[in-house]
Amino acid sequence: TGMFTYDPGFLATASCESAITFIDGDQGQLYYRGYPIEQLAEHSDYLETCYLLIFGELPTAEQKADFVKTVTRHTMVHDQMTRFFQGFRRDAHPMAMMVGVTGALSAFYQDSLDINNPRHREVTMYRLISKIPTIAAMCYRYSKGLPFNYPKNDLSYAANFLQMMFATPCEDYKPNPVLVRALDRIFTLHADHEQNASTSTVRLAGSSGANPFACIAAGIACLWGPSHGGANEAVLKMLDEIGSVDNVPAFMEGVKNKTHKLMGFGHRVYKNMDPRAAIMKKTCDDVLKELGLENDPKFKLAMALEKIALEDPYFIERKLYPNVDFYSGIVLTALNIPVSMFTVIFALARTVGWISHWNEMISDPGMKIGRPRQLYTGSPRRDYVPVEKRK
Ligand code: CMC
Repeated sequence: TGMFTYDPGFLATASCESAITFIDGDQGQLYYRGYPIEQLAEHSDYLETCYLLIFGELPTAEQKADFVKTVTRHTMVHDQMTRFFQGFRRDAHPMAMMVGVTGALSAFYQDSLDINNPRHREVTMYRLISKIPTIAAMCYRYSKGLPFNYPKNDLSYAANFLQMMFATPCEDYKPNPVLVRALDRIFTLHADHEQNASTSTVRLAGSSGANPFACIAAGIACLWGPSHGGANEAVLKMLDEIGSVDNVPAFMEGVKNKTHKLMGFGHRVYKNMDPRAAIMKKTCDDVLKELGLENDPKFKLAMALEKIALEDPYFIERKLYPNVDFYSGIVLTALNIPVSMFTVIFALARTVGWISHWNEMISDPGMKIGRPRQLYTGSPRRDYVPVEKRK
C-alpha cells in the first residue's frame, strides 16, 4: 500500500495539465487563457469569453459574429422537453430539474454522442451554451407554475435569459441595460475556475468516454452541494438570520467565538481579495443605485457587515476577504432572482468552463481514463462463515 500517495481533497495533487485558467491565490489573480479577469469583465462580454475559453484565443470580429449567430440559433429546446418537465413535481428544486433535463439532452441530440468527431464535439458545445439558459428559465417557470417563455433571439444572451425568466406573455419585454450588464458579468466571473470539484467531476466522468450531456449533468450534480455552488444562498440566509444592522455586533461576537462563520468571506485558494469579488462589488453598487435600493434594509445590512469585516483585526489577521459569492447573492436578489435559482445560475455560467475542460481532455491523444487508487483500511483476508454459524 506504500505505493500510492495519500492526498484526500487533492490538497497537493495536480489531477491534469490544462491551458485554460490560471489562479494565483496569494496575489489574488485569475486569468482566462492568460487574460486577467478584470480586463475581461470590463471590456469583454460573456459570449466572447466563452469563445476564448473554448478555442483559446479572442475571436476576430467575424469569428465573434459567427459564434454569437450560431449560439443564438440553438437556443430552442425540442418541444417534447416541455412534456419531460411535466413529469416533475410542482415543488421540485430547480437544481433537481437541471440535473435531470441536462442529462436528458443526450436522448434528444444523439449525433452528439460521437465524441471522436471534432465537428460533433463543437456542435455539442454550442448546444449546451445555447440551451442551458433556456432550460434554467424553464426550471424557474415550472416551479412557479408559469407558462414557459420561448427564447427571443434578437436579445443578447443575458437579456434573453431575463426575458425567459420574467417576461409575461405578449409583453414587449425591455430589460434594463444596467441589470443585463450585471448579469452578463456574473456569468463572465463564474465561467471557469480551473479544477474545482464540479470541473474535476466533469473531467473524470468524461475520461470514460461518456457523452458530454451526461458529463455536464454530473458537474451540475456536484455543484449542487452547499460547499461548492451553495455559498451565495448561504449569504442570503445569514442576512435573514441577522435581521437588522442592530444585531451585527452580537453576530460578529459569535463569529469570533467560532459559533458561526461570516458567509461569503474567506477562500481556500485566495488568501488575498478574490479578484472576482472586487469586480462584483462595483457591479453590486451600480445595481443597487440603479434600482434605488441603497437604503433597503437587507442591502444596508450587507454593506454594514462588509465594512466591519474589512476593518476588523480578526479578518485582517486571517486574510479573510469577501469572496465573489458575498456580492453575487446580493446582486441576484436585487435582480429579483429567487435564492433557489442561485446555483442554477452558477451552473449556467460554468457550463462553458466544464465543456472547455471536457473538450481539452478529449482532444488530448494521450488521454487516460481517470482511475484513482486508494489505501485499503478494511479487514485482512478471512474465510466465509455459513449463516447458522455466525454470532
Ligand atoms: N468567517 C469567520 N472565520 C473564518 C471564515 C469565515 N467565513 N473563514 C475562515 N475563517 C477562520 C477559520 O475559523 C480559521 O480561524 P483560526 O485560524 O482561528 O482557526 C481561519 O479563518 C482560517 O480558515 P480555514 O478554515 O483554514 O480556511 P479554509 O481555506 O479551510 O476555508 C472556506 C475556506 C471558504 C471554506 C472558509 O473561508 C469558509 O467557510 N467561508 C465561508 C463560506 C463561503 O463563503 N464559501 C464560499 C467560498 S468561494 C466559492 C467558490 O469560489 O466557488
